[in-house]
Amino acid sequence: MVDGRQMESLSETDGPAIASLYRECADYWTLVAGRPAGEEDAVSLLADRPPTLARSNKLVLGLRDGVRLVAIADALRDYPHAGIWWLGLLLVAPESRGRGLGRRLYAAFESWAAAQGANELRLCVQAQNTRAHEFWQMLGFVALGSQSTTLLELTSQVTLYSRSVAKPSGTTDERQKLAGRCLSTPHSPRRLDTYMPGSPHIYPCLVTEDD
Ligand SMILES: CC(C)(COP(=O)(O)OP(=O)(O)OC[C@H]1O[C@@H](n2cnc3c(N)ncnc32)[C@H](O)[C@@H]1OP(=O)(O)O)[C@@H](O)C(=O)NCCC(=O)NCCS
Repeated sequence: MVDGRQMESLSETDGPAIASLYRECADYWTLVAGRPAGEEDAVSLLADRPPTLARSNKLVLGLRDGVRLVAIADALRDYPHAGIWWLGLLLVAPESRGRGLGRRLYAAFESWAAAQGANELRLCVQAQNTRAHEFWQMLGFVALGSQSTTLLELTSQVTLYSRSVAKPSGTTDERQKLAGRCLSTPHSPRRLDTYMPGSPHIYPCLVTEDD
């Protein structure tokens, strides 16, 4: 529950509502992808997932104000391994930002994911999305490395973030050490493969010796 409303699982029938939210968020898409997102990109949100991931582990959640979507979250459960969840996108409508909604949505999502066995959350942020960096760092995410990645029409440097949700008592150094075993670091370069080139959503696969 967020602000007394339930986050809902979205499906194909919600495509137009997602497209409408995407149009409202043209600022975000232009910043990170070089152009506004629309109808086709909304369809991609519902369909895109890494080829190895079961359809049931792709989750698109929405928060409505009446019939209108005011926020969406896109997640991959147990990817690339059990216990690791990816947040492909957290998007709040422009007029609802800066009022704590993103923070409350994240808190609800994290509790829900942890209750289903998530012990680590991962996500990517483009270098130019400075507000998102502040947001995720404020929530305790640790930057582990960066790599150049293309999203739709724009190539940017993206930072990989991770947060342990099972043992939040670990220090930043401990968490960096733990997660750094799986993620690329400047001293130990490993490959970050981005699935679905041409998709407006990033689902990287971090290829390591352990993977
Ligand atoms: C990033 C986003 C999800 C945050 O949601 P939000 O509802 O705006 O954030 P909140 O109001 O919960 O703010 C939480 C914190 O974010 C930071 N923040 C919020 N507004 C900010 C701003 N204008 N500038 C810098 N930091 C800001 C602050 O640390 C704030 O903490 P505070 O409430 O103690 O001041 C939202 O702004 C959004 O959808 N942005 C466009 C899409 C996007 O960038 N998504 C993330 C992709 S990785």
